[in-house]
Amino acid sequence: MTKFLITSALPYVNGVKHLGNLAGSLLPADIHARFRRQTGHDVLFLCGTDEHGTPAELAAAAASLPVADYCARQHMIQAEIYRRFGLSFDHFSRTSGAANHRLTQEIFARLDAAGYIEERTLRQAYSPTDRRFLPDRYVIGTCPHCGHPAARGDQCESCTRLIDPHELSEPRSAISGARDIEFRETRHLFLKLAAFEGRLRCWIDARHDWPPLVQSIARKWLDEGLRDRCITRDLTWGVPVPKTGFADKVFYVWFDAPIGYIAAGVEWAEQAPGRDWRAWWQGGDEVRYLQFLAKDNVPFHAVSFPATLLGSGLPLKRVDIIKGFNWLTFEGGKFSTSEGRGIFTDRALELLPADTWRWWLAANAPEGDDVDFTVERFVDGINKDLADTFGNLVNRCLSFVANRFDGKVPDGGAGGASERDLAAALDRHLAHLRAHHEALAFRKAADEVRSIWKLANAYLAHAAPWSAIKQDPPRAAAIARTGINLVRLAALVGWPFIPFAAAEVLQCLGDGIDRVAWPDRAREDLCAIPAGRPIKLPPPLFPKISREALAANVAGRRPA
Ligand code: 2FM
Ligand code: ZN
Repeated sequence: MTKFLITSALPYVNGVKHLGNLAGSLLPADIHARFRRQTGHDVLFLCGTDEHGTPAELAAAAASLPVADYCARQHMIQAEIYRRFGLSFDHFSRTSGAANHRLTQEIFARLDAAGYIEERTLRQAYSPTDRRFLPDRYVIGTCPHCGHPAARGDQCESCTRLIDPHELSEPRSAISGARDIEFRETRHLFLKLAAFEGRLRCWIDARHDWPPLVQSIARKWLDEGLRDRCITRDLTWGVPVPKTGFADKVFYVWFDAPIGYIAAGVEWAEQAPGRDWRAWWQGGDEVRYLQFLAKDNVPFHAVSFPATLLGSGLPLKRVDIIKGFNWLTFEGGKFSTSEGRGIFTDRALELLPADTWRWWLAANAPEGDDVDFTVERFVDGINKDLADTFGNLVNRCLSFVANRFDGKVPDGGAGGASERDLAAALDRHLAHLRAHHEALAFRKAADEVRSIWKLANAYLAHAAPWSAIKQDPPRAAAIARTGINLVRLAALVGWPFIPFAAAEVLQCLGDGIDRVAWPDRAREDLCAIPAGRPIKLPPPLFPKISREALAANVAGRRPA
């Protein structure tokens, strides 16, 4: 049995995330974790809030809160939202926790001892108006690569290139807007990334199973030549730098954040006896490590974090597969946290059940290209797939058994030729579905689930138990029993995508939901629920959504 170590990019703590963040890392990671658990694998699914750096400091200042209090509060808010979205983390950590501080300092000390750290004097953006250095996002200006007018001092949101603040034209302070930016000298520590180029190239060249998007971003970085990276900042909030002369500095957020994945494993192990984080993070080939993230995160995960791990000399697991995602856009433009544009995860849950968002975002995952979310496409997709297809299947079958068989699964025998054909067709779909999940092809997996739901509806429409009940009651019983088992199978394959509705259905069928199994052999699965078992009717699972009503509710911007 393979063990699957799964991480989703750690969302920044600065405020509630939008649907794009959900679609591009958290949700696919959860779907995969659920699939692997269903197929009997041991899974450790880790995530947490990314709490250091300028995003957190700026947001805390805007909220007039001490940064530690702001982060604690926002962590709780995000954790609760993700729980309500059904994200099945084994642990949801915080990079500001003690485990991450300890590990980050240890890994730094080892890099330093191995000669991979260099002190350099830098000219850093300084604002006399603000009387402070302006690292990273504290300075904004025009991107030297694509001309985006509001590029941040660390990375351009538009072209995803990393930036040194002095490359920005027309720089200004993100705190006060002051344009009197000077560049003053300050001492910093650099990770000698260039020293890892050969080893990283060999490693990345051998990663044939990485998606093309990820391979190409990683290669582009290597081909452009790796530049040594500054890993310290003139800030107070962060992991302190354990080196003489650097007491007033902290590590750059992108140095400590990925170490937070490991720290999350350490915390998970500390929470209960018998858990061993080393069995995961220091495991051999029996552990497969998968990372889920958006394309702007690829360089950090494919290049700088692996270099950090290599240089530390610690026997820590490096990623096996990075699943990168393109952008989800919103009604033709960008989702933007800073501008409050798009649908945010808290608002989404006020509007509709989590499963509706989960389903649409997975079925339209921005895998091959960017994908545009529009209310029209969303409503059409949900009404067709969840209301007309899955919901209709459940409702038709369960009400038929409730009304005609006194709410108990009838004893219908093993069925005949049409049930054998149905089982054979299901087996083909199930094999494809498994292969798509294994290949992390989320859209194709959702397509296959939809096909299974449609096939189940087509079987019922063709077998027409509501007609058979008049002329041939035993045949109607056989169809009804097959139908009930089809509903179960439809819920099992839906489980990774729509876990709340799937759980509701399985419970109505009298199935437990502690260990939801994968349906591997349709013939057996079509007889799984025994005759005589009482079933319940669920409340309407997916009432149709009105396009106009949803459009009216999502219009406008999020209040600041
Ligand atoms: O882009 C982001 O949202 C980052 N907070 C992701 C960090 S991933 C990991 F390295 F922590
Ligand atoms: Zn740019």
